[in-house]
This record gives sequence, C-alpha cells and structure tokens, in this order.
Amino acid sequence: MTFTLLISSQKGGVGKTTVATNIAAVLRYYGNPTLLIDTDIANPSVTPFLGISSFNYGLKELLDNDSIELKDAIISYQQGRFDILPAAANPEHYYVFNDEKLSKLYNKIKKLDYKFIIIDTAPASFIEALSKYYDEALIVTTPDPASVLGASRLSKVYQKHHMNHRLIINRVEESKFEMKREDIEKVYGDVAYAIIPEDPSVKEAINKMIPAYIYNRGSPFSIAIENIARAYLLKAGSSESLVFEGKAPEKRKQSFIDKLKEAFGKKQ
Ligand SMILES: Nc1ncnc2c1ncn2[C@@H]1O[C@H](COP(=O)(O)OP(=O)(O)OP(=O)(O)O)[C@@H](O)[C@H]1O
Ligand SMILES: [Mg+2]
Repeated sequence: MTFTLLISSQKGGVGKTTVATNIAAVLRYYGNPTLLIDTDIANPSVTPFLGISSFNYGLKELLDNDSIELKDAIISYQQGRFDILPAAANPEHYYVFNDEKLSKLYNKIKKLDYKFIIIDTAPASFIEALSKYYDEALIVTTPDPASVLGASRLSKVYQKHHMNHRLIINRVEESKFEMKREDIEKVYGDVAYAIIPEDPSVKEAINKMIPAYIYNRGSPFSIAIENIARAYLLKAGSSESLVFEGKAPEKRKQSFIDKLKEAFGKKQ
C-alpha cells in the first residue's frame, strides 16, 4: 500500500519544500521507495533546491501532452536516491489544474511501486477533487500571526473534507518576538504535531544543493525531520497508532556507526 502525504500551507515561504524534500530523504534513507512530486508549477522549487536543471518533462508537460509517459518525467535523484516528479520543465506564471486529468495521473502514480508519495504544493493551492488521494496532510506554519491564521483556516478546509491533518511549526527560534507554541495552538485550535527549529544548516545544504538531512544527519533540523518521518514509517508499515510527542528536538551526537555509514555511503 502506498502512503500519500500532502505538504501544504496557506501562506507562502514557510518551509513546505524544505520539509517535503527532507521527509522524502529520510523515508528513502530507511529503505522505502519514495516519490517526491512538486506541484508548484508557477514556482518549482524542488529541482532548483537540489541543483537539478536538465530534464525535459514535469507534471505540467504530463498534463498538457497525453503522448508523454510518466516514466519519462520521473527523475531518479542520485544523492537522495528518492525519485522526483518535477513540476515543469517550462514553468508557467499562472497555471490552473485540470482536476480530471490530475486525478487520472494520480491514479496512475498510485499504481507504481512506491511506499511513499510526498507532495509538495504551492501556497493556498488545495484542490478539493484530490482530497481522496491523500492519506494525510501536514500544514506547515512559521511562528507568526499571518502564517498561523492561514494554517487555522486551512485546517478548517481539511476538516470539511474529512482529511487527516497535522500542524508543523517550522523555523522556531524561541525568541521573545515570535509566537509561543501555546498561543499558536490556541489560534489553530489543536496541538502542534511537531516543532522544527530554525537551523543554519538548512541554508548551508541549499547552498550545496542537497537535502539538509543528507548534508548533516546530526543537525537539530535533521533530528526533528527524522522524528516526523519515522512516525510515518510506523504508520505506513503497520496499523499501529501514531505515538509522537512533538517535543523540540535535542542535539544528537552522531554514532560511530552513523559516521562509518556516511563515510562509506551505506545509506540503508
Ligand atoms: N528550519 C529551517 N531553518 C532555517 N531555514 C529554513 C528552515 N525551513 C526553511 N528554511 C528556509 O526558508 C526558506 C523558504 O523555505 P521553502 O522554500 O521550503 O518554503 P516554501 O513554503 O516551500 O515556500 P513557497 O511557498 O514559496 O513554496 C528557504 O530559504 C529555506 O532555506
Ligand atoms: Mg515551496
């Protein structure tokens, strides 16, 4: 069975692509065939983040041209070893999805041999007709009022469509100028599922054009993202209920085995 996870937000720039790419990296690291789909056709981010520039087709081209085959658009990303369906080889500044075509394509993708499908989205881009394809949605917010209010509105939309969803608070610095977790939860109307700290290694990784989780598995960001992704491993691997505390991550030292694995590239 394939587990499909939507990474979403109402406000832009909160970290969706960063979270989506790195969850895909963790899931693949633990040996699960994973496909990362970029649905942000106006502003594709997955491929530029990972330094992938030479490809002919993406989601847009697949939807616009029936003669292009899915297998010709999927990229096997060597460094993370997960697969990517890019948004578009030729992005369009404004693109309206044809729900029927997109549903057909998702049906085809679901039949492929992936354990996980992670879908990165443009801000405020929920498509009602696709809600049945998602096993769960993560709503990403930063700890500021505009983003949290947006998250709360999006949560109401998901409730209306009976979609499982959880809140992730990203870029938490615990400074006195940002919203506190309790206040965010009050506005959102539910507890936060996880906290991801602000971490300079995220920018360093973008600079190196690799997922932050592959760049440094011991960073505070990587620990938080691994906790989130591992919960999905449990969830998809068995019918066990999800046990997750959502605590701020503590610094973890890399074990000797981890260092060895990294040195010899044995990522499974
Ligand atoms: N935990 C973090 N620590 C530090 N920087 C972060 C963190 N998460 C995201 N960023 C940075 O925030 C910026 C925005 O992230 P990202 O592009 O993932 O957001 P997005 O929600 O996908 O944006 P868009 O709405 O435009 O698609 C990036 O420069 C990224 O490096
Ligand atoms: Mg993005």
